[in-house]
Amino acid sequence: MVKAAVLGASGGIGQPLSLLLAISPLVDELSLYDVVNTPGVGADLSHINSKAKVTAYLPEEGKGLEKALTGTDIVVIPAGIPRKPGMTRDDLFKINAGIVRDLVTGVAKYSPKAFVLIISNPVNSTVPIAAEVLKKHEVFDATKLFGVTSLDVVRASTFVADVVGGSPTDYKVPVVGGHSGETIVPLLSQITPKTEIPSDKLEALVKRIQFGGDEVVKAKDGTGSATLSMAYAGFKFAESLLRAVKGETGIVEPTYVYLDGVAGGKEVKEAVGGLDFFAVPVELGPTGAVRATNPLPQANEYEKTLLEEAKKGLAGNIVKGTEFITPTS
Ligand code: NAI
Repeated sequence: MVKAAVLGASGGIGQPLSLLLAISPLVDELSLYDVVNTPGVGADLSHINSKAKVTAYLPEEGKGLEKALTGTDIVVIPAGIPRKPGMTRDDLFKINAGIVRDLVTGVAKYSPKAFVLIISNPVNSTVPIAAEVLKKHEVFDATKLFGVTSLDVVRASTFVADVVGGSPTDYKVPVVGGHSGETIVPLLSQITPKTEIPSDKLEALVKRIQFGGDEVVKAKDGTGSATLSMAYAGFKFAESLLRAVKGETGIVEPTYVYLDGVAGGKEVKEAVGGLDFFAVPVELGPTGAVRATNPLPQANEYEKTLLEEAKKGLAGNIVKGTEFITPTS
């Protein structure tokens, strides 16, 4: 029996993500939690004739989160405000940091063994926040905490196909680093199957992958950021994890993890100058993150310069998140 919970279930991402989880044959029970509108979203989804039983909760003076999380195997968190034109993901920190802290405190108390998938931005900082909260409650297991960067991977294959032709499903692009602007590093020299990007198109393609989210923010013109493509990407990651939990082998997904706590992570940490968190392709298994792979030594010179920029940005983002929970001074 698999129970999944979505925290922030009434939002732009939360609703379509909940729909995808509700119709997944891998989910037996789906609990929805938000500060608004979950009764309606829950009632609506509960009429779908899939096997998942849907339950929905509002805060109810703290009891709602407890009920939503108790017995949960996998928690997906898209709660928090999204960007408006002109905002960076870092601008969201002020509001979303506290939301993620409070929700992950609930996870620590009511479902400490659950897999936790963080979508709320800025992911580069909210995942360190989640790790610190779980550490404080002495329930931190790095193999179970994931920053969801799969939208960057989804975008990368779509945009590569735009440049070289073919179907987006033809290309698998390792995207490493973090999840914002220059911290997103697509390793286009390592696309499978091997694909040459014309040199005059390379830089623009990298920029498009790094700043693809801005296209959506601009097109939505003040009403939000990516929701449907994010719901798809977040669901794909959750689905990969659930398949791995059920015993399927060979599933590898890029995700933002705490390097010291994942097998193979120490090699990556060394390669990125000691950063605690970094997104790399991670092999998933029954216990979560089984092994981090290190594609960085094969990066070409251009990608190495991108990695240097990413490292600089990430270092500050990680400290900001960690210090929000555990101030050093
Ligand atoms: P939204 O505003 O449509 O929905 C957010 C939901 O969170 C709302 O229903 C709101 O009521 C709920 N919420 C707020 N505080 C809460 C709390 N304390 N507990 C439970 N629920 C709470 O926003 P949207 O578009 O769904 O985006 C959500 C987050 O996902 C944003 O931070 C956004 O930046 C991020 N995002 C992440 C991406 C990624 O690749 N990781 C891609 C796109 C967006």
